[in-house]
Amino acid sequence: MSLLVTGGAGFIGSHTCVELLNSGEEIVVMDNFFNSTPKALDGIRQITGRNFKFYEADMLDKSAVDKIFSENNIEQVIHFAGYKCVPESVKKPFLYYSNNIRGTLNILESMEKYGCRKFVFSSSATVYGIPDAVPVREDFPLSAINPYGSTKLIIENLCREMQRADNTLTMILLRYFNPVGAHSSGLIGEAPTGTPNNLMPIVIEKALGKRDRLAVAGNDYPTPDGSCIRDYIHVTDLAKGHVAAVKKARELKGGCPAYNLGTGRGYSVFEILDTFERVNNIDLGYVVGERREGDAPEIYSDPSFAEKELGWKAQLGIEDMCKDAWNFAKKSI
Ligand code: WQD
Repeated sequence: MSLLVTGGAGFIGSHTCVELLNSGEEIVVMDNFFNSTPKALDGIRQITGRNFKFYEADMLDKSAVDKIFSENNIEQVIHFAGYKCVPESVKKPFLYYSNNIRGTLNILESMEKYGCRKFVFSSSATVYGIPDAVPVREDFPLSAINPYGSTKLIIENLCREMQRADNTLTMILLRYFNPVGAHSSGLIGEAPTGTPNNLMPIVIEKALGKRDRLAVAGNDYPTPDGSCIRDYIHVTDLAKGHVAAVKKARELKGGCPAYNLGTGRGYSVFEILDTFERVNNIDLGYVVGERREGDAPEIYSDPSFAEKELGWKAQLGIEDMCKDAWNFAKKSI
C-alpha cells in the first residue's frame, strides 16, 4: 500500500515527502510543476536515500489521475495540489475555483472508484477569516475573506458532508498557519516559480538583491510594535504533523476532524525581520510601508488539540526558520 502525495514537489509537499519516507512510508508523488520544479524531487531522494514513483500529472486531467490509482494500491491521499496566491485569487476567482475544486473532485472521484477511503487535506488558517479572538481554536467560526480561502472552505465542507454520508470515510483537515523555513540540509525549500506574496520569500529576494524594496506592511496596528502578528511554523514541523496525521487516519475508523498545525506563539513582522538579520548577519534595509488590504492584526493558533490527538508538537523556533530559509536560498543561487 502507498500514500499518494499530490503536489509533492511543492514547498510543503516536498518536506512532507521527506518526513514520510524517513518514517518508513511508501509514497507515490504527483505534481504538474506549476509552482515547483523537478529539482525538489532530486532533493527528496538525496535527503532520504530513498526512491519513489513520480507522475508528472495535472489533477485536472481525470485520466492521468485515474492512471495513478489503477497502477498503484493507494491507501491514503495527502492532498497539497492547488493554487495558493491570495491576491491572484482575488483577480482570478474562476481560475482558483476551477483548479482547486475541480481538481479535488477528480482526486476524490478516483478514490471512490478504487476504494481509497482516507484523505488528508492541506487546509489553511485562512478558513477562520479574520478571527474575533486569539488564540484560534478548531471550533471557531469559519468564513472566507478571499476566493483562495473560499476554495479551502468549500473543500472542507465537502469532506465533512461526504464523511457524514459515508462513515467509512476518514477525512483529516490540517489547517496551516504560516509555514516558513526549509529543510536543514538546504536541498529543498520554498522556491516559488512566480512573484512571491508571502513575507519570507520576499525577505529572501531582498537579501539576494533580487528585489529593491522590502516594506513592513503597516506599523499602526493594535499590536505591541504596531506590525501584524502571525503564527510562523517551520515547514519541517508542519511536515512532521502530516506524518502524525497519516498515522491518526489509520487509527480512526471514520471521522472528519480538523487540526491546527501551528506553534501557538505569534511573532510580529518586525520580530521576523530583526531575527532574520541577526541570525544571518544581513542588513535587509527594510522600510515601513502602507498596510496591506485584508490583513488581520493578529492571528495565532491554539495547537493543543493537534498536540493531544496527533501526539505532535512544533519543536523549531523563528531562529531556525530564518537560518534554514537563508541556507536554502544561498544554495539555490
Ligand atoms: C505575513 C505578514 C503581512 C509581505 C497568507 C495566506 C494564508 C496562508 C499563509 C496559505 C503579514 C506581512 C508581508 C511584505 C509584510 N497561505 N508582510 N511585508 O497573509 O498571514 O497568510 O499566507 O494557506 O492563507 O493568507 O502571510 O506571509 O503574506 O504575510 O509586512 O512584503 O507579513 O502584512 O502581516 P499571511 P504573509
